[in-house]
Amino acid sequence: MRLTIGVDVGGTKVAAGVVDTTGTVHRTVRQPTPSTEGPDAATEVVCAAIEELLGDPGLGAEVDGIGIGTPGFVDESRSVVTFAPNLPWREEPLRSRVHERFGLPVVVENDANAAAWAEVRFGAAQNASEVVCVTLGTGIGGGLVLGGEPYRGRFGIAAEIGHFQVVPNGRRCGCGKDGCWEQYASGRALVATARSLMDSVPERAVRLREQCGDDSQQLTGQDVMTAAQAGDAIALEAFAVVGAWAGQGIAALTAILDPEYVVLGGGVADGGEIIMDPMRAAFQRHVTGGSFRRLPELRQAQLGSAAGLVGAADLARR
Ligand code: BGC
Ligand code: NA
Ligand code: ZN
Repeated sequence: MRLTIGVDVGGTKVAAGVVDTTGTVHRTVRQPTPSTEGPDAATEVVCAAIEELLGDPGLGAEVDGIGIGTPGFVDESRSVVTFAPNLPWREEPLRSRVHERFGLPVVVENDANAAAWAEVRFGAAQNASEVVCVTLGTGIGGGLVLGGEPYRGRFGIAAEIGHFQVVPNGRRCGCGKDGCWEQYASGRALVATARSLMDSVPERAVRLREQCGDDSQQLTGQDVMTAAQAGDAIALEAFAVVGAWAGQGIAALTAILDPEYVVLGGGVADGGEIIMDPMRAAFQRHVTGGSFRRLPELRQAQLGSAAGLVGAADLARR
Protein backbone atom coordinates (compact mmCIF):
# COMPACT_ATOMS: atom_id res chain seq x y z
CA MET A 1 0.00 0.00 0.00
CA ARG A 2 1.23 3.50 -0.83
CA LEU A 3 2.22 5.45 2.23
CA THR A 4 2.80 9.17 2.50
CA ILE A 5 3.79 11.40 5.37
CA GLY A 6 1.44 14.17 6.43
CA VAL A 7 2.62 17.04 8.59
CA ASP A 8 0.35 19.50 10.37
CA VAL A 9 2.07 22.62 11.59
CA GLY A 10 -0.05 24.09 14.38
CA GLY A 11 0.24 27.27 16.39
CA THR A 12 1.39 25.24 19.38
CA LYS A 13 2.56 21.87 18.01
CA VAL A 14 3.82 20.12 14.91
CA ALA A 15 2.20 16.73 14.34
CA ALA A 16 3.34 14.33 11.65
CA GLY A 17 2.15 10.88 10.70
CA VAL A 18 2.51 8.06 8.20
CA VAL A 19 -0.82 7.68 6.40
CA ASP A 20 -2.15 5.08 3.98
CA THR A 21 -4.62 5.44 1.08
CA THR A 22 -7.63 4.85 3.35
CA GLY A 23 -6.66 7.76 5.60
CA THR A 24 -5.46 5.48 8.39
CA VAL A 25 -2.58 6.91 10.41
CA HIS A 26 0.07 4.32 11.21
CA ARG A 27 2.42 6.28 13.38
CA THR A 28 2.42 9.83 14.72
CA VAL A 29 5.04 12.11 16.22
CA ARG A 30 4.46 15.46 17.92
CA GLN A 31 6.71 18.32 18.90
CA PRO A 32 6.08 21.82 20.22
CA THR A 33 6.15 24.56 17.54
CA PRO A 34 9.04 26.96 18.22
CA SER A 35 6.84 29.89 17.22
CA THR A 36 9.04 32.63 18.68
CA GLU A 37 12.48 31.31 17.69
CA GLY A 38 12.57 32.42 14.09
CA PRO A 39 11.81 30.75 10.76
CA ASP A 40 14.68 28.27 10.65
CA ALA A 41 13.78 26.70 13.98
CA ALA A 42 10.23 26.09 12.77
CA THR A 43 11.45 24.52 9.51
CA GLU A 44 13.89 22.39 11.48
CA VAL A 45 11.12 20.98 13.68
CA VAL A 46 9.14 20.00 10.57
CA CYS A 47 12.22 18.24 9.15
CA ALA A 48 12.99 16.51 12.45
CA ALA A 49 9.46 15.08 12.61
CA ILE A 50 9.71 13.78 9.02
CA GLU A 51 13.15 12.33 9.67
CA GLU A 52 11.88 10.42 12.67
CA LEU A 53 9.04 8.88 10.65
CA LEU A 54 11.29 8.02 7.70
CA GLY A 55 13.58 6.28 10.17
CA ASP A 56 10.81 3.92 11.24
CA PRO A 57 12.11 0.45 10.37
CA GLY A 58 8.73 -0.91 9.23
CA LEU A 59 7.21 2.13 7.49
CA GLY A 60 9.94 4.55 6.44
CA ALA A 61 11.02 2.74 3.27
CA GLU A 62 7.43 2.60 1.96
CA VAL A 63 6.93 6.37 2.07
CA ASP A 64 6.93 8.01 -1.37
CA GLY A 65 5.71 11.52 -0.74
CA ILE A 66 5.31 14.26 1.87
CA GLY A 67 2.42 16.67 2.37
CA ILE A 68 2.75 19.60 4.74
CA GLY A 69 -0.24 21.53 6.03
CA THR A 70 0.71 24.89 7.43
CA PRO A 71 -1.12 27.92 8.73
CA GLY A 72 -0.73 30.94 6.52
CA PHE A 73 -0.59 31.89 2.87
CA VAL A 74 0.89 29.29 0.55
CA ASP A 75 1.69 30.57 -2.94
CA GLU A 76 -0.06 29.20 -6.02
CA SER A 77 2.77 26.79 -6.84
CA ARG A 78 2.29 25.35 -3.36
CA SER A 79 5.96 25.80 -2.50
CA VAL A 80 6.42 28.95 -0.47
CA VAL A 81 4.76 30.03 2.76
CA THR A 82 4.56 33.73 1.97
CA PHE A 83 3.00 34.89 5.24
CA ALA A 84 1.73 33.19 8.39
CA PRO A 85 -0.03 35.49 10.86
CA ASN A 86 0.76 33.27 13.86
CA LEU A 87 4.18 31.87 12.82
CA PRO A 88 7.61 33.39 12.02
CA TRP A 89 7.61 32.30 8.35
CA ARG A 90 7.78 35.06 5.70
CA GLU A 91 8.54 33.96 2.11
CA GLU A 92 9.72 30.63 3.49
CA PRO A 93 10.65 28.18 0.67
CA LEU A 94 9.36 25.25 2.68
CA ARG A 95 8.87 22.86 -0.21
CA SER A 96 12.43 23.13 -1.52
CA ARG A 97 13.91 23.02 1.97
CA VAL A 98 12.16 19.75 2.75
CA HIS A 99 12.70 18.32 -0.73
CA GLU A 100 16.43 19.02 -0.60
CA ARG A 101 16.68 17.31 2.71
CA PHE A 102 14.81 14.08 1.91
CA GLY A 103 14.69 13.84 -1.89
CA LEU A 104 10.99 12.93 -1.91
CA PRO A 105 8.17 14.80 -3.68
CA VAL A 106 6.71 17.45 -1.35
CA VAL A 107 3.49 19.45 -1.48
CA VAL A 108 2.75 22.36 0.82
CA GLU A 109 -0.87 23.20 1.53
CA ASN A 110 -2.68 25.57 3.85
CA ASP A 111 -3.56 23.68 7.05
CA ALA A 112 -7.30 24.32 6.88
CA ASN A 113 -7.44 23.41 3.18
CA ALA A 114 -5.78 20.13 4.12
CA ALA A 115 -8.24 19.52 6.97
CA ALA A 116 -11.20 20.27 4.69
CA TRP A 117 -9.89 17.81 2.14
CA ALA A 118 -9.52 15.11 4.80
CA GLU A 119 -13.10 15.61 6.01
CA VAL A 120 -14.41 15.30 2.44
CA ARG A 121 -12.29 12.22 1.65
CA PHE A 122 -12.64 10.34 4.94
CA GLY A 123 -14.68 12.28 7.49
CA ALA A 124 -17.83 14.32 8.14
CA ALA A 125 -18.55 15.35 4.53
CA GLN A 126 -17.56 12.26 2.57
CA ASN A 127 -18.12 12.60 -1.17
CA ALA A 128 -19.91 15.94 -0.85
CA SER A 129 -18.96 18.43 -3.52
CA GLU A 130 -19.68 21.84 -1.90
CA VAL A 131 -18.16 22.05 1.56
CA VAL A 132 -16.88 24.80 3.81
CA CYS A 133 -14.63 23.67 6.62
CA VAL A 134 -13.96 26.04 9.50
CA THR A 135 -11.19 25.15 11.92
CA LEU A 136 -11.32 26.89 15.27
CA GLY A 137 -7.83 26.57 16.71
CA THR A 138 -5.14 29.09 17.53
CA GLY A 139 -6.58 31.09 14.63
CA ILE A 140 -9.54 30.38 12.39
CA GLY A 141 -8.80 28.45 9.25
CA GLY A 142 -11.00 28.01 6.22
CA GLY A 143 -11.02 25.26 3.64
CA LEU A 144 -13.27 25.15 0.60
CA VAL A 145 -14.10 22.16 -1.52
CA LEU A 146 -16.11 23.37 -4.52
CA GLY A 147 -17.18 21.11 -7.34
CA GLY A 148 -15.46 18.29 -5.43
CA GLU A 149 -12.03 19.94 -5.67
CA PRO A 150 -10.01 22.03 -3.22
CA TYR A 151 -10.56 25.69 -4.09
CA ARG A 152 -7.44 27.84 -3.75
CA GLY A 153 -8.28 31.03 -5.62
CA ARG A 154 -6.10 32.65 -8.26
CA PHE A 155 -3.02 33.16 -6.08
CA GLY A 156 -3.31 30.18 -3.76
CA ILE A 157 -4.73 31.98 -0.76
CA ALA A 158 -8.51 31.69 -0.96
CA ALA A 159 -10.59 31.06 2.15
CA GLU A 160 -8.59 33.13 4.62
CA ILE A 161 -11.86 33.41 6.49
CA GLY A 162 -10.24 34.08 9.86
CA HIS A 163 -9.35 37.52 8.60
CA PHE A 164 -12.67 38.82 7.46
CA GLN A 165 -13.50 41.79 9.56
CA VAL A 166 -16.46 41.30 11.89
CA VAL A 167 -15.91 44.35 14.13
CA PRO A 168 -14.77 47.68 12.66
CA ASN A 169 -11.84 48.94 14.76
CA GLY A 170 -12.11 45.76 16.82
CA ARG A 171 -9.47 43.62 18.51
CA ARG A 172 -5.99 43.71 16.99
CA CYS A 173 -5.17 40.56 14.99
CA GLY A 174 -1.88 38.70 14.38
CA CYS A 175 -2.22 39.70 10.71
CA GLY A 176 -1.85 43.36 11.65
CA LYS A 177 -5.46 44.38 11.00
CA ASP A 178 -8.28 44.99 13.48
CA GLY A 179 -11.50 43.17 14.20
CA CYS A 180 -10.80 39.91 12.34
CA TRP A 181 -13.19 37.01 12.95
CA GLU A 182 -10.41 34.91 14.49
CA GLN A 183 -10.10 37.41 17.32
CA TYR A 184 -13.69 36.54 18.31
CA ALA A 185 -14.30 32.87 17.53
CA SER A 186 -10.97 30.98 17.72
CA GLY A 187 -9.43 28.94 20.53
CA ARG A 188 -7.43 31.98 21.55
CA ALA A 189 -10.61 34.02 21.63
CA LEU A 190 -12.22 31.35 23.83
CA VAL A 191 -9.40 31.64 26.35
CA ALA A 192 -9.41 35.45 26.23
CA THR A 193 -13.19 35.52 26.74
CA ALA A 194 -13.05 33.04 29.64
CA ARG A 195 -10.21 34.99 31.21
CA SER A 196 -12.00 38.30 31.22
CA LEU A 197 -15.27 36.75 32.45
CA MET A 198 -13.38 34.94 35.20
CA ASP A 199 -11.65 38.13 36.30
CA SER A 200 -14.90 40.08 36.41
CA VAL A 201 -17.08 37.49 38.19
CA PRO A 202 -14.66 35.10 39.94
CA GLU A 203 -17.36 33.75 42.27
CA ARG A 204 -19.12 32.16 39.29
CA ALA A 205 -15.97 30.51 37.95
CA VAL A 206 -15.26 27.98 40.69
CA ARG A 207 -14.27 25.06 38.50
CA LEU A 208 -12.44 27.25 36.03
CA ARG A 209 -10.34 28.79 38.80
CA GLU A 210 -9.46 25.33 40.07
CA GLN A 211 -8.31 24.38 36.57
CA CYS A 212 -5.80 27.22 36.33
CA GLY A 213 -4.70 27.45 39.96
CA ASP A 214 -6.71 30.67 40.38
CA ASP A 215 -4.41 32.48 37.92
CA SER A 216 -6.30 33.58 34.83
CA GLN A 217 -3.03 34.26 32.99
CA GLN A 218 -2.30 30.52 33.13
CA LEU A 219 -5.64 29.56 31.63
CA THR A 220 -5.50 27.28 28.56
CA GLY A 221 -8.11 26.18 26.05
CA GLN A 222 -8.05 22.72 27.58
CA ASP A 223 -8.86 24.24 31.01
CA VAL A 224 -11.88 26.03 29.58
CA MET A 225 -12.99 22.78 27.92
CA THR A 226 -12.58 20.70 31.09
CA ALA A 227 -14.37 23.28 33.26
CA ALA A 228 -17.22 23.62 30.75
CA GLN A 229 -17.67 19.85 30.66
CA ALA A 230 -17.88 19.92 34.46
CA GLY A 231 -20.63 22.56 34.24
CA ASP A 232 -18.69 25.68 35.17
CA ALA A 233 -21.00 28.62 34.45
CA ILE A 234 -18.30 30.98 33.19
CA ALA A 235 -16.60 28.41 30.98
CA LEU A 236 -19.98 27.60 29.44
CA GLU A 237 -20.64 31.28 28.93
CA ALA A 238 -17.31 31.67 27.15
CA PHE A 239 -18.29 28.85 24.79
CA ALA A 240 -21.68 30.50 24.23
CA VAL A 241 -20.05 33.83 23.35
CA VAL A 242 -17.54 32.25 21.00
CA GLY A 243 -20.19 29.93 19.52
CA ALA A 244 -22.40 32.93 18.76
CA TRP A 245 -19.56 34.67 16.91
CA ALA A 246 -18.82 31.47 15.04
CA GLY A 247 -22.47 30.99 14.01
CA GLN A 248 -22.74 34.56 12.81
CA GLY A 249 -19.68 34.15 10.61
CA ILE A 250 -20.95 30.87 9.21
CA ALA A 251 -24.20 32.60 8.26
CA ALA A 252 -22.16 35.12 6.26
CA LEU A 253 -20.19 32.33 4.57
CA THR A 254 -23.47 30.62 3.72
CA ALA A 255 -24.78 33.80 2.11
CA ILE A 256 -21.70 33.80 -0.12
CA LEU A 257 -21.15 30.12 -0.87
CA ASP A 258 -24.38 28.12 -0.34
CA PRO A 259 -22.55 24.94 0.71
CA GLU A 260 -24.10 21.54 1.49
CA TYR A 261 -22.08 21.10 4.68
CA VAL A 262 -20.20 23.38 7.00
CA VAL A 263 -17.77 21.25 8.96
CA LEU A 264 -16.42 22.59 12.24
CA GLY A 265 -12.99 21.39 13.26
CA GLY A 266 -10.07 22.47 15.40
CA GLY A 267 -9.67 22.26 19.15
CA VAL A 268 -12.74 24.36 19.98
CA ALA A 269 -15.01 21.99 18.01
CA ASP A 270 -13.91 19.17 20.32
CA GLY A 271 -16.36 20.80 22.76
CA GLY A 272 -19.11 19.04 20.78
CA GLU A 273 -22.60 20.27 21.65
CA ILE A 274 -21.15 22.82 24.08
CA ILE A 275 -20.02 24.81 21.06
CA MET A 276 -22.31 23.44 18.33
CA ASP A 277 -25.55 24.44 20.12
CA PRO A 278 -24.85 28.17 20.49
CA MET A 279 -23.28 28.14 17.03
CA ARG A 280 -26.36 26.62 15.40
CA ALA A 281 -28.63 29.03 17.25
CA ALA A 282 -26.64 32.07 16.08
CA PHE A 283 -26.48 30.66 12.56
CA GLN A 284 -30.29 30.38 12.45
CA ARG A 285 -30.65 33.94 13.75
CA HIS A 286 -28.26 35.45 11.23
CA VAL A 287 -28.60 33.48 8.03
CA THR A 288 -30.29 35.39 5.27
CA GLY A 289 -33.60 34.13 3.88
CA GLY A 290 -33.52 31.18 6.26
CA SER A 291 -37.14 30.10 5.80
CA PHE A 292 -36.99 30.31 2.01
CA ARG A 293 -34.03 28.13 1.21
CA ARG A 294 -32.28 24.92 1.95
CA LEU A 295 -29.58 25.43 4.50
CA PRO A 296 -26.26 23.67 4.92
CA GLU A 297 -25.91 21.14 7.68
CA LEU A 298 -23.46 22.23 10.39
CA ARG A 299 -21.45 19.20 11.35
CA GLN A 300 -18.67 18.59 13.80
CA ALA A 301 -15.48 17.34 12.13
CA GLN A 302 -14.86 13.60 12.47
CA LEU A 303 -11.13 13.34 12.15
CA GLY A 304 -10.34 15.56 15.12
CA SER A 305 -6.77 16.71 15.48
CA ALA A 306 -5.60 14.27 12.78
CA ALA A 307 -7.49 16.04 9.97
CA GLY A 308 -4.68 18.36 8.90
CA LEU A 309 -2.04 15.68 8.61
CA VAL A 310 -4.37 13.13 7.00
CA GLY A 311 -5.46 15.70 4.39
CA ALA A 312 -1.90 16.82 3.68
CA ALA A 313 -0.81 13.19 3.28
CA ASP A 314 -3.66 12.50 0.87
CA LEU A 315 -2.91 15.62 -1.18
CA ALA A 316 0.69 14.44 -1.48
CA ARG A 317 -0.59 11.50 -3.50
CA ARG A 318 -2.65 13.44 -6.04
C1 BGC B 1 -4.16 31.83 9.02
C2 BGC B 1 -4.66 30.74 8.12
C3 BGC B 1 -4.75 29.44 8.88
C4 BGC B 1 -5.53 29.61 10.17
C5 BGC B 1 -5.57 28.36 11.00
C6 BGC B 1 -4.99 31.90 10.28
O1 BGC B 1 -4.49 32.89 11.11
O2 BGC B 1 -4.20 33.06 8.34
O3 BGC B 1 -3.82 30.58 7.01
O4 BGC B 1 -5.36 28.46 8.06
O5 BGC B 1 -4.98 30.66 10.94
O6 BGC B 1 -4.31 27.92 11.36
NA1 NA C 1 -7.44 27.97 3.89
ZN1 ZN D 1 -6.46 39.03 10.93
